[in-house]
Amino acid sequence: MSGESAAARELLAGAVRVVVFTGAGVSAESGVPTFRGPGGLWKTFRPEQLATPEAFARDPRLVWEWYGWRRGLLAACRPNLAHVAIARWMLRRGGVALVTQNVDDLHERGALEAATGLAREGRLRVAAGPAGAPASEEARAAAPDASPLHDDELPVEKIAAAAARVAPIRLHGSIFHVRCTNCRARSEHRAPLDASSEATLPRCGACGGLLRPDVVWFGEALPEGALEAAFGAAARADVCLVVGTAGAVQPAAALVHETAGGGGRVIVVDPGETAYDAMADVRLWGAAGEVVPGLLRDV
Ligand code: OAD
Repeated sequence: MSGESAAARELLAGAVRVVVFTGAGVSAESGVPTFRGPGGLWKTFRPEQLATPEAFARDPRLVWEWYGWRRGLLAACRPNLAHVAIARWMLRRGGVALVTQNVDDLHERGALEAATGLAREGRLRVAAGPAGAPASEEARAAAPDASPLHDDELPVEKIAAAAARVAPIRLHGSIFHVRCTNCRARSEHRAPLDASSEATLPRCGACGGLLRPDVVWFGEALPEGALEAAFGAAARADVCLVVGTAGAVQPAAALVHETAGGGGRVIVVDPGETAYDAMADVRLWGAAGEVVPGLLRDV
């Protein structure tokens, strides 16, 4: 193990509260394109043509077609080792809040994989208390909780409840949620999309209004509750672990400064340059799926 990895593990082991802050890079090894850098979405598409309220008002069909294409890409992707390792660590350790800028559902699916793995090993606990609360001594204990389980004995509801407890705080919304442009009702939406004409676009079940993806577009405010929860967790954190974000988009990018400003430490995992390189206490250059599992193992 490199000196940098050991230093990062020491910081994490000594922390009571941690915030993990992820961006598109955490999903890159799952096959999801990032926004910037080689092959990034903004190299192929212009943000103002697709990811703004004006673009949607001008041509909702085109915008939905793009989101439908991205949903299709995601259907073929699986959570990678980093998503699973983060969730497994959160489930075992407690005291960790996960904040993501990503609109994919790979953290959630990674949490289901992690909870299932722990259940198979007889190590799944459903801790009381909210996600992000410091771990109890009991929750930190490394011993298995029960004997390993076979797949036909897995406690499916317990697994789902545990995975839900480590769900990310989403700063930029979700590609699998929609909001009505008329009555503003929100709901989950995973049905296949038909963006062949404006008449086939998804409509609100309550009022018939045109639905839009419930994501944050350029020029829009971030969801207030998520912003408050994320920045509160960052301000209280002893360590902010940043994984796979260039740190170029405000206000999300300022989250890391919230931890640093409160005297917390910053660890950055990314194979490319980021806005945080000069301020990082520990800088780990590498892909999330290669670095994160070893970093979080048993700390
Ligand atoms: P970016 O595309 O700006 O940055 C992706 C980061 O991931 C870069 O720093 C890459 O070096 C890094 N990266 C690439 N492969 C990686 C890997 N295998 N492991 C770890 N890191 C890797 O994406 P974000 O920072 O997430 O906003 O972008 C922030 C926001 O800008 C997005 O949420 C989106 C976008 O416009 C909205 O849509 C509102």
